[in-house]
Formats: sequence, structure tokens, C-alpha cells
Amino acid sequence: VGFEPERRGSHPYLGVDFRTLHSLCNREALLFSFQRHLLSSRLLRGAPHLNPLHILDEDYCGQAKCMLEKVGSWNFDIFLFDRLTNGNSLVFLTFNLLNQYGLIELFQLDMVKLRRFLVLVQEDYHNQNPYHNAVHAADVTQAMHCYLREPKLAQSLTSFDILLGLLAAATHDLDHPGVNQPFLIKTNHYLAALYRNTSVLENHHWRSAVGLLRETELFSHLPVEDSLSIERQLGSLILATDISRQNEYLSRFRTHLDENDLCLGHASHRHFVLQMALKCADICNPCRPWELSKQWSEKVTEEFFHQGDIEKKHKLEISPLCDSEANTIASVQIGFMTYVVEPLFAEWARFSDTRLSQTMLGHLGLNKASWSALEPEASGSSEEGESEPGRATEEPSSRALSQGSQES
Ligand SMILES: *[C@@H]1O[C@H](CO)[C@@H](O)[C@H](O)[C@H]1NC(C)=O
Ligand SMILES: [Zn+2]
Repeated sequence: VGFEPERRGSHPYLGVDFRTLHSLCNREALLFSFQRHLLSSRLLRGAPHLNPLHILDEDYCGQAKCMLEKVGSWNFDIFLFDRLTNGNSLVFLTFNLLNQYGLIELFQLDMVKLRRFLVLVQEDYHNQNPYHNAVHAADVTQAMHCYLREPKLAQSLTSFDILLGLLAAATHDLDHPGVNQPFLIKTNHYLAALYRNTSVLENHHWRSAVGLLRETELFSHLPVEDSLSIERQLGSLILATDISRQNEYLSRFRTHLDENDLCLGHASHRHFVLQMALKCADICNPCRPWELSKQWSEKVTEEFFHQGDIEKKHKLEISPLCDSEANTIASVQIGFMTYVVEPLFAEWARFSDTRLSQTMLGHLGLNKASWSALEPEASGSSEEGESEPGRATEEPSSRALSQGSQES
């Protein structure tokens, strides 16, 4: 895979190579309308909705400022914050955190370049995606901030690590098309070819972030080795969010914890911990208080079902979890919590045995019980003890989840 950044706006939104698809499948008319639909989405998405260079100068709503005083709280309501900032939560939150950690001063970041960078990042998220939009990125950045403040990390991370962690969180889903990797592969999307069917989305998020860093010249005053190192480490962090590689990261984490050999004085170990922190931040929705968690669950399922509807409409095979007739929000969530979220957060709590970790595990248990109560027949909850032999519901959902269909 090349090391070139992707140019902003150089490809049509969801640029499926329809000529290839056409010659393979002979579905010309159908695919042409599909393409038109996607191209028009791109045009809609491009409509500017904020005034880039002034938004940070304005004395924006006092309530939003007030909320930022509790930006390190696990109950932080990012949806409310997004409304109070008029849809600019990612810009405000990230700017505020970089400032609060003293990173703007320390790295002598140019304010105009930084503002422009953050606004471009926010704009490159698709606000018509129900889930993978700038609010999700802001939420992950806020969670990352909470983890960076945990004693083990706070005592060992360098300013450079913190800068990377926050930037990776803010950009980790940049330009997400709202469909998953299997969809891109089966529609012969140019990104699937570019990244050879491997971490297609994550590579794209990373290369898009690098493109924006270079375009805005945010780090152009640093030695070339440093800005290349930032780009490379940003990639390594973002690529760790590929949920299909979760087992790989989780077993490495588990081994380190079993052997008790994580030495946070070593840069490579700190980097690994940052990868795990970003992975946790990315899928922490089920560990938030129910009122917040429930909204995320609805949004992610809406995005899955929307993909399923496109697949149905174009007679493509419907991806796991994406068929609204075969799944419910509750069933999708219970599977996700059981096979993906619980194992990760159990290890995280072993690593960082703090009140925050206990709070997160507490919400996770309560939220799972709430979904189970809403879905009595599908409640795979082990408490019920009614284990029918040969019940087939668990296997497929575990397989489906590991195929990378979940949020990342
Ligand atoms: C990606 O997967 C598709 C579908 O399985 C296959 O046709 C294509 O050759 C693969 N591309 C690469 C580079 O492996
Ligand atoms: Zn994500």
C-alpha cells in the first residue's frame, strides 16, 4: 500500500467502478441509477453549513462553554453539546482539549491552520450518516480524553502521545461512506482495489487524515521526521480500530496482562496502550448511561439497515446484521455487547482497575439487561439458564460481528 495521502474531493462519493461491475454483472440500468443516487449524495454533503474561520472566535452559547467544564465526565452528553454548538461539536471539543492539555502552545500550532484543519475534518464526515458522522468522532474523542486521564496513562504518556491519541480519535472514521467493507468489496469500489480488500475503510480514514494534515500544513513547521512520524503513528492507531482484527489486539493485550510485562516507559508499549484506548473509545457506546447508549444503538442499527435496504434494492447479498426483517436493535446490540464489547472492556478493566472502568462495566451490564428485557424471545442472557441444546443463534451473530460489520 502506497504512502500517498488521498486528495480531498478527488473521487466521487462512493465511487463504485460501474464499468467493471457492468461488464461482470450486466446490470447497467440498475447500477447507473445507484451511481446517480450516490453522486447526488456527495453534492448534498458538500453544501457548506458553517463559516470556517470565525466559529472559534464567536462567544458561542454559554451553555456549551459550561458543558466543557465537565468534558472529562463519563456522563458527558455529546448530543446536547452538538446541539448547543450548532453542529460543531467535533471542532469545539477537539480544540478545547488540545488547548487544555497545553498542546497548542507546546507544539506551537498555528491557530489559523489548526482551525482550518479541524473544520475540514468535521466537514469530511458525512452528516447524513446516521452513525458514522462527526458526532461519533466527537464522542470517541471525548471518551479518549477520559481514558488519557486514567492514572496509568496520565502518569506515563508524553505530550506527543496525547496529541496523537486525540488526533487519531478525531479523524479515525474520516470520510466514512456509511457502508461497511464487505459492501465496498462486492461493489468493486475503488477503495477496495486501492487497499486490496484489507482494512479498506481504516486505510481510507488514515490517508484522508494525512491528506488534511498536509493540505493545511498543520505540522509543516516541525522537522520532517517528526511530521512523518505523526503520520505513521496516526495510521497505526486508526488501523487498530478495524474490528475484524479485534482478536489479534485482544490476545496481545491479554498476554501482556497475564505476564504483567507492560512497561509504559517504552514508547512501543505506550503506543500499544493508546491503540487499546482508541479501540475502547470507538466501541464504548454500550458502556455509557442508558439514555446516551440507547441513542447510539438506534443510530448504528439505522445505518446497518440502510445498507441492507440498498443491498436489497440492487439485489446484492444482504450483509449480516443489515437485514431489518431478520434483526432488531436489541438483537444486534446483545450480540455486539456479548462478543465484542464485554471481552474488550474486561481486559481494559484488568489493565486500568479504576472507578471509571467499574462504571463502564456497570452500564454495560445494565444496558444489556435493558435490551434483553425489550427482546424477551431473543435474550441470549445466560442468567435465564434455559440453554436449549443446539440453539443456533449465538454462533452466527458472533461470526457476523467479527466480519467487521459493527461500528468502527
Ligand atoms: C478483492 O475481493 C474481490 C471479491 O472477492 C476479488 O474479486 C478481488 O480480486 C480482490 N482484490 C484483491 C486485490 O485481492
Ligand atoms: Zn468509529
